[in-house]
Amino acid sequence: MTQPADSGRRPEALPLLRGQKALVTGANSGIGLATAIALGRAGADVVVNYVFGREAAEDVVSKIQSFGVRAFAHEADVSDEGQVVGMFARMLEEFGTIDVLVANAGLQRDAALTDMTVEEWHKVIDVNLTGQFLCAREAAKEFLRRGVVPEVSRSAGKIVCMSSVHQIIPWSGHANYAASKGGVLMLMQTLAQELGPHGIRVNAVAPGAIRTPINRSAWDTPEAEQNLLKLIPYRRVGDPDDIADAVTVLASDLMDYVVGTTIYVDGGMTLFPGFATGG
Ligand code: BGC
Repeated sequence: MTQPADSGRRPEALPLLRGQKALVTGANSGIGLATAIALGRAGADVVVNYVFGREAAEDVVSKIQSFGVRAFAHEADVSDEGQVVGMFARMLEEFGTIDVLVANAGLQRDAALTDMTVEEWHKVIDVNLTGQFLCAREAAKEFLRRGVVPEVSRSAGKIVCMSSVHQIIPWSGHANYAASKGGVLMLMQTLAQELGPHGIRVNAVAPGAIRTPINRSAWDTPEAEQNLLKLIPYRRVGDPDDIADAVTVLASDLMDYVVGTTIYVDGGMTLFPGFATGG
């Protein structure tokens, strides 16, 4: 990959996050990539976390730097406690603090229940759920230490958990993934309740079907895409920028009173579209 995907639909920098420091996990592809770029465009300095694919991560860094803000790539497996602690230590050393965590890194290891190995189960839970716990914990420590800096933001810190419509929609053949996202919902709500009194906002964005490498088989042939569109009342597969823009606004002070909520960005996938004609 030479150029990160970027629709350029926001040609000018929006100052929504000016002076803030953000960390995006899994930021060298798909939703994470678009989100890291959007936060940079909104004025934040950005840490681009990745686990494989250094070149793609460096492309994201260059794109973010072109907005006149700072960025660096940092390799770390979010499910490894030592690597997460090390990543936050480097961020605090280089940027001084953190204002926004986007806990995005996630993966799928799909299998029918009776074929699913315990390794496939653990891998998905470890990255999708334990990874969010570890990153949220380290971010919260710094938010609590620093408190509110009114010139920067009304809140002492923002955590945006990347969830999925599958935090509430059961998904046959994906028990590990659906369980991990159901866990993200309760993790997010519990952290929002626990950290709210300290001025920290925790929320989630739940994407529907977004055109990224994780679900390529669901949209890369016309037949697959037609099938997918039946599940989307708005009849369009989402773009990574749809999610990136929602995260940017949610992390900004425009949404300062939004606490412990999930914003579904799914073209209506959670509206039980089967009932448009049935029931
Ligand atoms: C999954 C995708 C899927 C989408 C809608 C996402 O969380 O990662 O593979 O297409 O949900 O079902």
